Amino acid sequence: MKIIGTGSAVPKKVVTNDMLSEFLDTNDEWITTRTGIHNRHLLTEENLLDLAIEASKNAIASSGVAPKDIDLIICSNVANNYITPSMSTMVEGEIGCECPCIDMNVACAGFIYALDYAEAYFIARGARNILVLCAEEPTRFLNWKQRENSVLFGDGAGAVVLTRGNDMLGSRLRAVSNKEVIIYRKRMEPTPYEVEGVNIDAPLYMNGREVFRMAVKSSQQDLQYVLEHAGVDPLNVEYYLLHQANQRIIDAIQEGMRLPKKKFPSIIGEYGNTSSASIPILLDMMHRNGELHSGDLLAMSAFGAGFVSAAALIRWSK
Ligand code: UT7
Repeated sequence: MKIIGTGSAVPKKVVTNDMLSEFLDTNDEWITTRTGIHNRHLLTEENLLDLAIEASKNAIASSGVAPKDIDLIICSNVANNYITPSMSTMVEGEIGCECPCIDMNVACAGFIYALDYAEAYFIARGARNILVLCAEEPTRFLNWKQRENSVLFGDGAGAVVLTRGNDMLGSRLRAVSNKEVIIYRKRMEPTPYEVEGVNIDAPLYMNGREVFRMAVKSSQQDLQYVLEHAGVDPLNVEYYLLHQANQRIIDAIQEGMRLPKKKFPSIIGEYGNTSSASIPILLDMMHRNGELHSGDLLAMSAFGAGFVSAAALIRWSK
């Protein structure tokens, strides 16, 4: 595969750390020093589908491909207020595509999983162009009375259009079953046979310290694996596009790999953790700012609930 277009969309509403401290026992100093987050964008008058459509349209416009020439849409989404139909089918009708659509939930690692699946679909099915979309509203999973999680997240969507090519130089997908570290449960419609205590609503729970530890370890392992298998010196990678969960996680991975800080771009300060949308939003912003040059090697790494992790090494050749 080869990336030929990028797009993104974020909500208009900007929420600062000071705004959170008006109703939570928190403060700008704690949030900034522990996470690097200053602002996050939250859905208010828009809904997630609006962002998903906008990001997809931007990516398609940037690619120059006609919507009818897209052969598959893969959408990474953890949850939204439609259980069915899928986000990808709802987007398809709004952007003029006529193709198979599939949603996947791989938590924050969804973008890299989707790139890998797209690569396989190009090989197995001879697809011409594929739209990969990540649309996430993690701020709707939270208990906004608890300071631990509600300061961390933001909403957003990012997308890429892929065509046939040889720019996927390596990837690694992993999953280890562990629902103790991050879990979010939704109540289903009750049946007459429901057993008390089984069908419950429980906002996002996260063991932050454990996730931090697992994130740094898995990300370094995945990146090293992918680079070694591709025979690429880590210094020859232009940028490491990491899942934007916490600036301290990004810094720990960078320091652990003994690489220059300038190779690890970050948008966490403005957008917080937008789950699987964080890497495609970062990619789109770098592309639009002219920071990517043809031939650049880009390494990506993400991790999240599952516990899942994934990394990919690609060549940017747009
Ligand atoms: O997409 C993947 C999902 N998630 C992540 O990547 C999150 C990974 N983990 C993290 O980013 C960090 O663990 C957190 C940012 C969640 C927490 O940072 P920490 O340095 O691990 O803090 P902590 O949980 O050890 O808490 C330290 C203190 C506690 O107080 P005591 O027990 O020391 O008195 C917390 O109650 O900070 C307190 N605290 C807060 N204080 C002010 C926790 N949240 C807040 C808050 N404002 N928002």
